[in-house]
Amino acid sequence: MTWDDPIVCVCRHVSEDTIVRAIRAGADTLEKVRVTSGANTGCGGCAEEIEELIEDVMSEACAPDLG
Ligand code: FES
Repeated sequence: MTWDDPIVCVCRHVSEDTIVRAIRAGADTLEKVRVTSGANTGCGGCAEEIEELIEDVMSEACAPDLG
């Protein structure tokens, strides 16, 4: 973890970078993120933030490559 890699799931101490990597590796639902990263397996309070990350990463994956 670094300053640029905030903790998203405090209960399981899972960082944003770890969750984004899980999503990019195919964990495109909250349940898959739970299984692959361990995030959101405690109080459940980070669900909304993880779902926002899933949306962000999936929209980035669907963006046209203009380069
Ligand atoms: S903060 Fe993620 S399960 Fe509690």
